[in-house]
Amino acid sequence: MSWATRSTSRSAPTPGAEARPSAEAYRPFAKALHWVTAVAVFGLLGLGLWMTGLPISLTKLQAYAWHKWIGLTVLLFTLARLAWRWHSPPPPLPDTVTAWERRLAPLSHGALLVLLLALPISGWLMSSAGGVDIFWFGLVSLPNLVPRNPDLFDVLRTTHHWLAWTLMVVLALHLAAVVRHDILRHDGIFRRMWPSR
Ligand code: HEM
Ligand code: HEM
Repeated sequence: MSWATRSTSRSAPTPGAEARPSAEAYRPFAKALHWVTAVAVFGLLGLGLWMTGLPISLTKLQAYAWHKWIGLTVLLFTLARLAWRWHSPPPPLPDTVTAWERRLAPLSHGALLVLLLALPISGWLMSSAGGVDIFWFGLVSLPNLVPRNPDLFDVLRTTHHWLAWTLMVVLALHLAAVVRHDILRHDGIFRRMWPSR
């Protein structure tokens, strides 16, 4: 089955109307995973930066628990997303996309997906090395990936910190690309991912 939605049209524009290239859209499941993940990731970045500065308290412990639970949910969603991408690859980019953008787009999307795996996995490894058990949403007890090890904990904490900052940089580029395409060039890239289409 093709990736294109039924509403896709490359027909000639109405005479007098602005010739707006029409791009094929992502499938609803891919869109749902993208937007749920996006909301979760913005929340996790904010929560992560906030909670680390809190004094030891019940609020801090609860914030850490929620951060871990939501982060591990992002891991599940990303695995589902990768399986879905393998089953149904993203739609081809519209003709308006230049050669360098065509090379950069899969690289930046690939980097985001790798970070969406690396961040939760490094977090889970960090928790394990710190000797803290994870009881996912109070429902499922997760195994510790490595035995308690304070030196490894420090390395993983630094790794998690830098992965988070790398994500923020790649995300800034991602958002800049959306602005460039849709606000400056009106080429319909944002609508490829927007739920209503
Ligand atoms: C996409 C998923 C995730 C994102 C975007 C994310 C982001 C962040 C950020 C921005 C921080 C603050 C870093 C700092 O200021 O040094 C942080 C800290 C932390 N994260 Fe995550 N995280 C994710 C997933 C996870 C997961 C799944 C776990 C554990 C299972 C986890 C455990 C932690 C812990 C324990 C800290 C505090 C480290 C410290 O006390 O210095 N994170 N995270
Ligand atoms: C306001 C925030 C966001 C906007 C407006 C946005 C917009 C978009 C758009 C328009 C596309 C489709 C690009 C194309 O047509 O090829 C896309 C794809 C993608 N976005 Fe975002 N995005 C946002 C946040 C995020 C976040 C937080 C992440 C992950 C950390 C993310 C990861 C991805 C990935 C991996 C793709 C490639 C498609 C896929 O495999 O699902 N985006 N985004």
